[in-house]
Amino acid sequence: MAVTKKKSVKKNNTIKLKFDTSWLYAPAPESKSAATIKPQYDLFINGEWQKPSGGKYFDTINPANEEKLSEVADANEADVNKAVTAARNAYEKVWKKMPAKERAKYIFRIARMVQERARELAIIESLDGGKPIRESRDFDVPTAANHFFYYAGWADKLEYAFPNRTAASVGVAGQIIPWNFPLLMAAWKIAPALATGNTVVLKPAETTPLTALKLAEIIQESGLPEGVVNIVTGAGATGAAIVNHPDINKIAFTGSTEVGKIIQRSIAGTNKKVTLELGGKAANIIFEDAPLDQAVEGVINGIYFNQGHVCCAGSRLYVQESVSKQVIRKLKDRIESLIVGDPLDKNTDIGAINSKQQLETIRKYVKIGKEEGAEMYESSCSLPGRGFWCRPTLFTNVAQSARIAQEEIFGPVLAILTFRTDDEVIEKANNSPYGLSAGVWTDKGSKIFNMTKRMRAGVIWANTFNKFDPTSPFGGYKESGFGREGGLHGLLPYVKLIN
Ligand code: NAI
Ligand code: MG
Repeated sequence: MAVTKKKSVKKNNTIKLKFDTSWLYAPAPESKSAATIKPQYDLFINGEWQKPSGGKYFDTINPANEEKLSEVADANEADVNKAVTAARNAYEKVWKKMPAKERAKYIFRIARMVQERARELAIIESLDGGKPIRESRDFDVPTAANHFFYYAGWADKLEYAFPNRTAASVGVAGQIIPWNFPLLMAAWKIAPALATGNTVVLKPAETTPLTALKLAEIIQESGLPEGVVNIVTGAGATGAAIVNHPDINKIAFTGSTEVGKIIQRSIAGTNKKVTLELGGKAANIIFEDAPLDQAVEGVINGIYFNQGHVCCAGSRLYVQESVSKQVIRKLKDRIESLIVGDPLDKNTDIGAINSKQQLETIRKYVKIGKEEGAEMYESSCSLPGRGFWCRPTLFTNVAQSARIAQEEIFGPVLAILTFRTDDEVIEKANNSPYGLSAGVWTDKGSKIFNMTKRMRAGVIWANTFNKFDPTSPFGGYKESGFGREGGLHGLLPYVKLIN
């Protein structure tokens, strides 16, 4: 986009670049009418919609305008118990005994139905969570369908996944997912569980329950035997009821490190299997020999993609000193051209922050960053009047020990640090409580291998960032959690190898 720099104002460590946007894209909004959202949703238990026993419902809103979209049931312990009982019965009586190739047919059918309803699912994902339609349409929904396809393929081939071993199902899986990739996380959790013969009780996040409930409709239509997948809505207390239910055999959780730790404490001493996929503070490293424009695009995609609501977001940028000025200038220019606004507009790059609470967290960190002495730059774009919004922001002059370099912000806020040598940057990159993902940008293949070998992160992208595929495993080190999801590795948490 053609932009000309107007002026910069410096105040309290904040430099704001003002740009004159000489032309803009015409709005290209996706139509809300292609999505059906009911005014109220009950709990999906034992193949049917059941009223919450406490009679309580809570609102889910559109974070882009704060309007109510629907109200969903608040499941209490009794409801969770019903869901677990339904899952247990389905497991013992039907699913565990069903030939694997028959199980696969259902999973394939769900995958196809997700594809058929892709447009509606994408619209609802953007309405309920605030992410740009381009992302829900081109990434979340197709990747969710691909996960079902991929794991459907494994269902009758487990003997090849675990050669010379016998893989038995575990039983009832309790799955708790976050708000950043609602449908995709549901697919990540449900698909491998079903493929390996387990049944499921899944709880979506309280701010983004709608696509999981749409998936429940799909599951009901697919004819999947009743009770094999149960979807209960609610907040932390509902999640805790799932974690603490004695008849759950496996817990799969994605969310904050704080709740991950609570879960670990709750299940200590039980024989529940568990996988935790928690926070991250990914180091994205640019060497002086990297193709800089490409790297800048990768950095932009890595942190501003999905409003930075990504556990593997490239939120710490390490730039080699010799090119740091150039890279920082390019990044500032690029964030100025990012389009922030209506998530349903196909031109939008950055949508709404998922909730008021998350926006407050991001603002808190921006304040901390300034107080710590880092220099903040933000785009000069205007923001809509209602809803939860944050301009793409970056910090320079960030110290390695700064909180904005160490703690997860989970928003469109980048901390930029510099380095001189390979050894120095490896030490700095690994100096983090997290270890989920990282990125390396260099022209030299041997440097990529050297770096990836020595960095402690579950996924390391080279000359790209935030690329996902159902065939590759994903998961972290240290406080980013343990266990892998995706790929062959993603089957393991859902099986017992009995010989
Ligand atoms: P959260 O960890 O509270 O929420 C994730 C899920 O866990 C939701 O479904 C929630 O209802 C459930 N939950 C909450 N308390 C629970 C409990 N005691 N037992 C069982 N389930 C429980 O995350 P929150 O508060 O929405 O976000 C806080 C921070 O967590 C974010 O700022 C971000 O840093 C991080 N986060 C990381 C995610 C990731 O993908 N790794 C996703 C979401 C948040
Ligand atoms: Mg919502």
